[in-house]
Amino acid sequence: MATCPADGEQNDAGLIDNAALVYEDDRIVWVGSESQLPDQFATGVSVDCMQSLVIPGLIDCHTHLCFGGWRGDEFEMRLRGRSYQDIAAQGGGIANTVNTTRTASRERLQAKALLALQGILDLGVTTLECKSGYGLEPATELKQLEVYQNLNRCQAITLVPTFLGAHMVPAEYLTRRRDYINLLCDVLIPAVSDRKLAKFCDVFVEEGAFSIDEAREILASAKKSGLGLKIHADQLSHGGGAELAAELGAVSAEHLEYASEEGIRAMSRAGTVAVSLPLASLYLNEPYLSAREMLNAGVRVAVATDFNPGSAPSFHLPLAMTLACLNQRMTPQEVLMGATTVAARAIAAEQQIGSLLPGFDADICIIDSPTLNHWLYHFKPNACSAVIKSGNWLKSFNGSTEVR
Ligand code: NIG
Ligand code: FE
Repeated sequence: MATCPADGEQNDAGLIDNAALVYEDDRIVWVGSESQLPDQFATGVSVDCMQSLVIPGLIDCHTHLCFGGWRGDEFEMRLRGRSYQDIAAQGGGIANTVNTTRTASRERLQAKALLALQGILDLGVTTLECKSGYGLEPATELKQLEVYQNLNRCQAITLVPTFLGAHMVPAEYLTRRRDYINLLCDVLIPAVSDRKLAKFCDVFVEEGAFSIDEAREILASAKKSGLGLKIHADQLSHGGGAELAAELGAVSAEHLEYASEEGIRAMSRAGTVAVSLPLASLYLNEPYLSAREMLNAGVRVAVATDFNPGSAPSFHLPLAMTLACLNQRMTPQEVLMGATTVAARAIAAEQQIGSLLPGFDADICIIDSPTLNHWLYHFKPNACSAVIKSGNWLKSFNGSTEVR
């Protein structure tokens, strides 16, 4: 079992051999070596996990779950040599998905996101951060966030919504950016906060998206409205987003492929979580973030999918985890911590989820693998054999098939 404690080194996932775990209702009440299980717990209903790996329910702390359409045609263009930025400059990219999301009905967007969530749960994910940002106009930004609100009522994964109205300046505002920023600061952010439609506000800081000064202003308004702060930082070029995240006390800076040494030091001092998104590096053929440098500097590194129709069209978090081992040189323990307690920290929930310790939510995943190393090294399409969310079995355990 891996308990993934919130404090301590990222390279120590709190592994226990021959472990036992007890939960009552939706809470974990005892964890330890099976030989030390207190008598009072010996009589309840028990499940033998047959030497499988037991981990906290996985947390995907960066997705763009709700979007209309797909962009497989742009995938081919990129394979033929066009760059992501070039496609975006010609009206494709995010703007393409903005068009399809604006015209899609709420019902259709919700059904599509629900289908993805079923696949995501099957992989062992029990909490998922999800951004708006494909509306870039009040009605559609709110439509995306309302889809998340509805989905929180009708399916099991906990969704943590983030307002990303500052994903890009929409085409109709290109000649009057100031008006769009005013719309975000004076209308949308207060409305999202009043209606409790998001926990965080995110800004894409990049050439072609928002400048540092614009982001500072938008995030100041978000902070005033009581939203937590996140930044899409240094993804395609070094833009100072990591430094800004640290300066503003953002809970996380995400992407960071081009983060500077100074940015990394600033994040370490401020306790900002770095969210690595290896699927986006893979699909865009961009460098992977410097996880070793960050971990050595004392920055915690989360691992997430970035699931979206452009730069990362897969929601497979265990695939992102194996890529983080191979391309970010993270150890399996660091990676598991990055998709559990460190991911929980990136959504300010590390006291409640992401660890298998007394008092934490009984969000548990059983992996059909004898060890953590074996799981991330062997990589199967889906090694998750059971999922428990808040004490409820959502995917029941049918035994282990792995031949040792
Ligand atoms: O995180 N960087 C900005 N946003 C997304 C991509 C969005 C898209 O291509 O549709 C990302 O990679
Ligand atoms: Fe993203």
